[in-house]
This record gives sequence, C-alpha cells and structure tokens, in this order.
Amino acid sequence: HFAAVEMVPGDPILGLSEAYVADTRPGKVNLGVGIYYDEQGRIPLLRAVREVEQALALEAKPRGYLPIDGLATYNVATQKLVFGEDSPLLAAGRVATAQTIGGSGALRIGADLLKQVLPIAKIAISNPSWENHRVVFGSAGFEVLTYAYYDAATHGLDFPGMLADLGKLEPGTVVLLHACCHNPTGVDLNAEQWQQVVELVKERKLLPFIDMAYQGFDVGIDADATAVRLFAASGIEAFIVANSYSKSFSLYGERVGALSVVGKDRDEAARVLSLVKRTIRSNYSSPSTHGGALVSGVLNSTELKAMWEQELAEMRERIHAMRAGMVEKLAAAGAPQFAFIQEQAGMFSYSGLTKAQVDRLREEYAIYAVGTGRICVAALNRANLDTVVNAVAAVSR
Ligand code: LMR
Repeated sequence: HFAAVEMVPGDPILGLSEAYVADTRPGKVNLGVGIYYDEQGRIPLLRAVREVEQALALEAKPRGYLPIDGLATYNVATQKLVFGEDSPLLAAGRVATAQTIGGSGALRIGADLLKQVLPIAKIAISNPSWENHRVVFGSAGFEVLTYAYYDAATHGLDFPGMLADLGKLEPGTVVLLHACCHNPTGVDLNAEQWQQVVELVKERKLLPFIDMAYQGFDVGIDADATAVRLFAASGIEAFIVANSYSKSFSLYGERVGALSVVGKDRDEAARVLSLVKRTIRSNYSSPSTHGGALVSGVLNSTELKAMWEQELAEMRERIHAMRAGMVEKLAAAGAPQFAFIQEQAGMFSYSGLTKAQVDRLREEYAIYAVGTGRICVAALNRANLDTVVNAVAAVSR
C-alpha cells in the first residue's frame, strides 16, 4: 500500500527545530522557529496563566468534551480582544467564533469552510508568506496565488506592487493578510496603508482572511488589531479572522486559537457558525479543554487580564531592546547594513542573509535560522547576542 510513498521534505521551520534538538554542540542558538524566549533563554510560563492553572488544579474538574465550537467564555473574550470591546459587529451579532486547535487550526477550518461555499477557491498570499499558508490552503484545495509584498532592496514594503497585484485579482478571490508582525519579514503596513487596502479590497470585492498570530507583539492589543478594526468599520459584509494565543500567552503546545467569521447579519452569522461546527466535527470533533480554560480564565478576570497585558508588554519591549542591541552591535562589528532590523516588527526579521550564509551559521556556529534568511529576534538575549552578532558579521563579510 505504501510502497510508492516518497519521502516528503521536512518542514522548513519545525524540521529545523528537530535538527536543533539533535545538535549536541554547546552554545547552540535556535533562531528558526517563532517562539519567544525570555532573558534566561526559557519559554516563559506567564504569571497570569500560572494563577489560573493553579486554581484549575485545585478544582480538579472532570474533563468532559467541550462543545464543537469550544468554550463559550473563551469565544466571547476572543471576540472582544480581536474586534474591540465596543465593536458594533459584536453588538449586531455578526461574528461567528469558534475555538480552534491553534491559529493553524483556525486557518485550516477557515479554508475548509470557504472551499464549501466558494465555487472558485483561489487565495492570494503575500510574497513571501509564512511557509505553512501555502500548504494549508493548497491542501484544502485552493489555488494559491501571490501578491507583491516585500521589497528586498529596501528591506521594507513594496506597497505600490501590493496594491497593483491586489487590484488585478478576480472578484471573490480570498486575500490572506497578516494583521501585524508579518511572518516572515517583520514588515508591516501602517494605518493609512491599511485603509487603502481596505478600500481596494472592498472595490474589487475580494474576501479578506486576516491572520493575527502576534496581537500585542508590536505596539499593543488594540494598535496591532488596526487591520481588523478598519475592515470592521468599512462596511464590508464578510471577512474572516484567524487568531492565535500561542505567542501572546506563551502557550504554544496548548494549541489555542480561534476562527471568527463576520457575516452580513445575525442570521447569516448563525448559519455560518453551523457550517463551521460541521467542518470542525469532521476534522477533529472538538478542541481541547486545558489551554482554552487558561486563556478564558485570564481574559475573564479584570485583574489577571491586566497582569497578562503587562507581561505581554514586557515581552514586546524585550524584543524591541534585542533588535536595537543587535543593530548596534552589528554596526560595531563592521556590519552597519543591518540597521533595518530595528524598523521591523514582531518576532521575525527577514535578515537578507542568503541560504549559503544561513548554512554557514548552522554548520560553523551552531546558529539555526530559516533558509530564507528569516531569524527569530525573540530568541535573542544578552547572553547569546554577542555570539549571534559575531557569527552574522563573519558570514556577511
Ligand atoms: C513560525 O513561523 O515559526 C511559527 O509560526 C511556528 C510554526 O508553526 O511555524
């Protein structure tokens, strides 16, 4: 049966983590996967999360199944975080939200949902985009197109190219947009640029699918949701948001995410939710309890939510400091060309390092980065910064 199965190449991001774990060299650094590490190089367990977890342990609750669409308190809190406390869309009952298995699960359920309702399933993703976007939508049967995004010459946004490409898409095409902290480039749109995209999407009758995996990692909860808020205010009848708490709650392995589908009115949202539920049921039946309970416990307590927002602010401030430190040290090491790293947002930087340079970093210096040159600046700390800087400067000479 399986004789004809060929070896599939390893995942460009998670495959790298496997190689990193197997590497026995001391002082190795993993700048591959998008994970935030603290100053001590550990994945933090946030204090707000720990409080909820301890309370849950004392309660020793039985683990029945969650509903197909997950924990209601989680979904309601998610809607407020994503769309804003006072969102008219929420007041009008226009948003159908389901807890999903991480942000990836939200993307896949969203893709499977759209495949059922759209006769032509085409999606346009940014060039470049998170490697898994192409895989998820391709596996769901979409034709995957790209739109211009990153300008390698400036290490910034090719905004005219982006508008031109979006303007050429057929009406009905789904457009995948990164809300903030673009993965892999770290290059984002500002509010005025978002407004222009919103208008173009509306005019061209495209269907926006917003991936928000890093809310709070650049400026803050509300500022990082600017794209969502502008689409919400635009009068567009339908759009989709996939969000993840992996990073913002440091709960990677708990697989906490959500899919929110905005419909034209309450009735449409209810019908969409029924289809979302059937799609989930046929995939994995229902999400898991623990991670959802942690997020819900934090977001539904005024005190713990404030504590979490403070912890989230500490994470993003540390990332900003590491970007600044890296740029300064690289300049001192004779590599001033990396100044753009400070302008980029979120966990990642498209460093401009070539595949050959990335290979050298791994082989000669035990520093792991994605083959495209993407580095995770959230894995830097004061103890590994000099090692990384010296190696990057050496391979760029
Ligand atoms: C990343 O891009 O490194 C993260 O989103 C983790 C993943 O699943 O790839």
